[in-house]
Amino acid sequence: MSFFEKIPLAPPDPILGLVAAFQSDPRDTKVNLGVGVYRNENLQTSVQESVKRAEAFLLQEEKNKEYLPIEGEKLYLEQMGGLVFGEELWIAEKRRIACFQTVGGTGALKIGGTFLREEMNNGVWIPNPTWPNHRGVFTHCGLKVEEYPYYDKQGSCLNFEGMMDCLGKLSSGSIVLLHPACHNPTGCDPSEEQWETLSSFFKERRLIPFFDFAYQGFGWGIEEDAKSLRCFLKKGIEMLVSVSNAKNFSLYGERAGCLLIIASAEKIAEKIASRVKQMIRVNYSNPPMHGAKIVARILSTPELRGNWEVELNEMRARVVSMRLLLTEELVSRCKKRDFSSIGKGTGMFTFTGLDSAQVEALRVEHGIYMPSDGRINVCGLNRENLEGVVQAIESVI
Ligand SMILES: Cc1ncc(COP(=O)(O)O)c(C=O)c1O
Repeated sequence: MSFFEKIPLAPPDPILGLVAAFQSDPRDTKVNLGVGVYRNENLQTSVQESVKRAEAFLLQEEKNKEYLPIEGEKLYLEQMGGLVFGEELWIAEKRRIACFQTVGGTGALKIGGTFLREEMNNGVWIPNPTWPNHRGVFTHCGLKVEEYPYYDKQGSCLNFEGMMDCLGKLSSGSIVLLHPACHNPTGCDPSEEQWETLSSFFKERRLIPFFDFAYQGFGWGIEEDAKSLRCFLKKGIEMLVSVSNAKNFSLYGERAGCLLIIASAEKIAEKIASRVKQMIRVNYSNPPMHGAKIVARILSTPELRGNWEVELNEMRARVVSMRLLLTEELVSRCKKRDFSSIGKGTGMFTFTGLDSAQVEALRVEHGIYMPSDGRINVCGLNRENLEGVVQAIESVI
């Protein structure tokens, strides 16, 4: 008899289950709108040219594969600080920012959540809805996870009033997860004015924002998407930022990301750094090297950086154009429902407003796949499959 026989089977991950179902569907007209990654017009996730060029340099120059320091590659952290906060703000504020290279954005959330659990153990509030892994990661850190209202399903827009109302009831020191841009899964972000209101509110109420920055450059632009969290930094608010390089550098499997913890003073940041390094040491000892070195090389080499910016701008342009084309087609064909809100969102994800029965009908009858909440990634669409998808949606509503 096995020692492990009594272990119960964990439920399958809904998104990964969807991928498996899609792959085994024999129809050649099938469309996967459930993927979490960027796809180009050929529905491929290719390696960026800037990444290939950076890798060629690294291959030539690499002298050894010794361990990185516990906090990670120094040049990478320096460059990421500048990318996230903007050069000027970064230089002015970096002494009070403790920086750690992590195992992707998920690793940053986990290390940040563990730090919060060990050092203060206040509850964390996540938006409803949010990226499903937020609840899992923070629960696994031992934090109490609660939700604040974020999305108005009826109006297909941000429920700013509901959000403010709930945040207004939180006690000082509560941790609040925010998506700085391209909210996953709704595609709805606060406006610039609303971010200003939120940052003043967080300062006044002494709430701790935890920004999950996974899509810098996918919404309005590299600088524009960071305006939200920069306005909190400018107000001197203590906060955490988890960053993923999976999407904007297409470095998914390289697991590049970082955690930035902003304290009110340099001395406090030093203490935070010492504690977090201790946590990393007993967790995975030090982070993986390759992805971070690629990012560092690109951002610190003007020519490669220019190359990367062009590539990212092209990716954003495709996301925007698919979103607008889908909206146009849906609005003109499906008069039974107002789909215009899709065109107002940012990033790859949007809610379609389809219910689980309609999602099921799309899968069974048309080979179109998406999670049961009706969230889609517009990168699953291209000019070839768009019309078929819109016709199918029309037929199920
Ligand atoms: C909001 C959000 N945060 C974090 C992540 C995870 O990023 P990474 O793959 O770098 O762990 C994702 C990925 O889909 C995401 O959508």
